[in-house]
Amino acid sequence: MDTAAPKGWLFSPELTREVRSKFHHTDADPLRPGRRIYFDNAGGAFRLRAALDAFHGLDAMPDCPERVHQTALYMNEVMDKAEDDIRTIFNARRGGKIITMLTASQVIWNLTGTIVENVSGNNVVTTKLEHPCAHDAARFFAEKTGKEFRAADVDPVTGAVTAESVAKLIDQDTCLLSVIYASNISGAVVDLPAIVKAARAIKPDLYIIVDSVQHAPHGVIDVDGLELDGVDFAPYKFFGCRGSGIGYASDRVTQLPHPRLLGKAEETWSLGSPAPGHYAAITEIVNYVCWLGGMDTNSADRRELFVAGMNRIKLQERALMYHMLEGTEEVPGLRHIPGVTVYLDHPDMTARDFILAVGLEGWDYTEAVREYERRGIIVFERIMSNIYSARMLEALHIPGCIRVSPLHCNTVEEIEAFLKVTREMAASHR
Ligand SMILES: Cc1ncc(COP(=O)(O)O)c(C=O)c1O
Repeated sequence: MDTAAPKGWLFSPELTREVRSKFHHTDADPLRPGRRIYFDNAGGAFRLRAALDAFHGLDAMPDCPERVHQTALYMNEVMDKAEDDIRTIFNARRGGKIITMLTASQVIWNLTGTIVENVSGNNVVTTKLEHPCAHDAARFFAEKTGKEFRAADVDPVTGAVTAESVAKLIDQDTCLLSVIYASNISGAVVDLPAIVKAARAIKPDLYIIVDSVQHAPHGVIDVDGLELDGVDFAPYKFFGCRGSGIGYASDRVTQLPHPRLLGKAEETWSLGSPAPGHYAAITEIVNYVCWLGGMDTNSADRRELFVAGMNRIKLQERALMYHMLEGTEEVPGLRHIPGVTVYLDHPDMTARDFILAVGLEGWDYTEAVREYERRGIIVFERIMSNIYSARMLEALHIPGCIRVSPLHCNTVEEIEAFLKVTREMAASHR
């Protein structure tokens, strides 16, 4: 399958139906009558039925996994399998440890603190595109350890961060580079291989961690290929459950001093009783993506199946994004509706995850989001008064936006319905 296909590749109607049947609440909100279109997957993605079933099945068992009776042993098998599946997601086969916490923010915060507090250097580099968890962790630990805090600018055309803008902040005394994989506002995916290459050309043994929460449900991550020291994802944005954050730490990071029970091995990162249900859910997510991948490859290798599945997802989302921007025979796309602005609308869709930052002339962002809801469409506003948005909006040079974040389970019909509502709303205030 050509992953460079500029306009993507839509699922067949049969596959779309089958995919949607595997997720909860794709057509309607469970609390309200009538059809609703859900385009806020960057705030919490459609839930895979199998992942929730697996979670509930395990979570119903009272047993402590740190025992030797049969059920406990079963729970350990589930967790071992899931750790292997997390390694499949990250492509982290060469070592390191899988980290599980309550949120992805905690994962990034811990990775950042461990590196900045223990690795020599006098500065910490991140970007202005980061989610606050990565940005503030870098700043907090830089200040705590008396290191200089540096944040790379955002490219105002693509909405991403370039290798050049990061590289110019790196020197021999940089102790950490923390960089986001894709923006959760503009959808821009950074050129991570180029950033890693440019940064390590300056400091070959530089520690690099990557916040992949936004990108993980839409693309492929390659820890071994890029020799990353830390990554994360949030299962609730990746078809799974709220209540866990998943990460990876390289061997050299796990050997740095970090919170652990002193009786356990030095590289241990788990602290307290694990929750097997969360692990079971991850295996179901990987099963699902591999099921999609099996339509394009006969490989028996789980990573190859997973990559093929993620590529299918990426192409379906790119095709949906193309329709949202350019329209269909039924209705013009966002680029062609008077009064609509797509911020940071970079034409290369291969460098974007399916998130659009939209403005409607004459509409306050929050009011627009309420109006969409009245019309059965769930989107989200990113505004200056919100700490999760302000710094990134400033860095992107946009005043705010209506964030539209569909998922591969959405359909062209839903895009058309959204475009029709958008056209009416735009016309009503012009
Ligand atoms: C890019 C990015 N990083 C990190 C996070 C934090 O994830 P969590 O809510 O699991 O802490 C988010 C959540 O919105 C995010 O979008």
